[in-house]
Amino acid sequence: MENNLAKPVALVIFGITGDLAQRKLLPALINLIKADLLPKDSHIIGVTRQSISKNDVLKPVFSHSASKLKANLRAVNHFKQKFSLFQMDMSKENDYLELKNYLDSLDKEHGLNFQRLYYLSIPPSIFDNVVNMMGKSGLQNPCGKDNLLPSLLIEKPFGYDLDSAKQLINVTMNYFKESQVYRIDHYLAKEMAQNILSFRFLNPLFASVWGSKYISSVTITAYEDITIENRANFYEQTGALRDLIQSHLLQLMTLIATERPDSIQDSKDVHLERLKVLKAINIPKPNEVSKIAKRGQYDSYKNDVNNQKSEIETYASVDLSIDNQRWKGTKFKLRTGKAMDKKSTRIDIQFGPNNKNNLLSLQLQPDEGIFLDLQVKKPGHEREIKRMQMDFSYKRTFKGIDSPEAYERVLLDAVRQDQSLFATSDEVLASWKIIDPILSEWSKTSTDLQIYKKGSSGLKKI
Ligand code: BG6
Repeated sequence: MENNLAKPVALVIFGITGDLAQRKLLPALINLIKADLLPKDSHIIGVTRQSISKNDVLKPVFSHSASKLKANLRAVNHFKQKFSLFQMDMSKENDYLELKNYLDSLDKEHGLNFQRLYYLSIPPSIFDNVVNMMGKSGLQNPCGKDNLLPSLLIEKPFGYDLDSAKQLINVTMNYFKESQVYRIDHYLAKEMAQNILSFRFLNPLFASVWGSKYISSVTITAYEDITIENRANFYEQTGALRDLIQSHLLQLMTLIATERPDSIQDSKDVHLERLKVLKAINIPKPNEVSKIAKRGQYDSYKNDVNNQKSEIETYASVDLSIDNQRWKGTKFKLRTGKAMDKKSTRIDIQFGPNNKNNLLSLQLQPDEGIFLDLQVKKPGHEREIKRMQMDFSYKRTFKGIDSPEAYERVLLDAVRQDQSLFATSDEVLASWKIIDPILSEWSKTSTDLQIYKKGSSGLKKI
């Protein structure tokens, strides 16, 4: 069914030749077109400095994403018609005015009042400058006869540490209102992540035992079998702690730990409760860091980034706790790694004091599902106890229904102006407060950096 709720959008993607745009954003847009979810007359404008043809921009889209692209010929052709390139130098103020003129002319040409969305898929190092120049050129102002306020979509990492995040938020707020800003955390848009609140609050069986009285530990894992691929520059400035733990994994932790929002549908209520969790997490003290935080680097990383001195971690794990009535005493472990033996993103919730008791696993990927370990008596005269698993796999249960890709959801919600899945500036700052002390201790020495073998299943020294 076509998305009649939203106005046609002019979606401007800064950084169209980048990895994210080509691997995730463009395939997601084509999938949305196929599902008739993107308002019909919408336009997609790719911003690039290079003099490059549309076909050359799109070539990698079709080769990278063969498996994720659910599109048919109709959707691909429609997308190609609505996709154009705008060549500009993002360091030149005048070029932003040209972009503005181009968008105004698009409105006139089509006799439409496009809802403008600016997607910044650009390196964090140029973010401040780009937003400043957008602001000076008036790109943030209401436009068209309906005075529609444009939206700004920002990719993580939102800053490099607490101070830079504050600075980034200030620059943004100089020109854009909080209601215009969508800070993307695509993990919140994953099908299973969206299921967490429903699962917790709609099933009294679990709602009644959800807290430290029954849950001894929660382990949130995001292991990837890929290396850093062609993102050496980005990764050398980021590392695993900033890349996944500061954003995606802390956000998953808030979904596990939040109190019930007044309304699960209302983004303000959801944000308020998520923020309360982040603020209740105990901030690591400098002298605790070596005990609660571990880091590693896969063995061929230095060659991959062509820097034999690199001390950047490709594996990180952090133990956290929450200082509130519900969670006092439960251990939370957040861990992530590149070049692991397999891709696995899951949340393991341990009921009872040790792994002989019930383990509830919420699996986000690769195959979404909910698994519960139970102890049962084996049939027979002897009293032999066996562990068995009750499993609910999305694939088996919802045969023929594909879960949407996270970026499809992110883009659709931005088009519909629903901010629930996006992080507020307060959430971003609260997350950095938790991570900052670890970064600061890690910057002093790297003697604890363990080298692990590519294809490992955990952090084992080699
Ligand atoms: C991104 C990180 O946010 O998430 C990448 O920058 C990582 O390093 C990616 O590979 C993982 O996303 P997904 O959806 O494939 O688990």
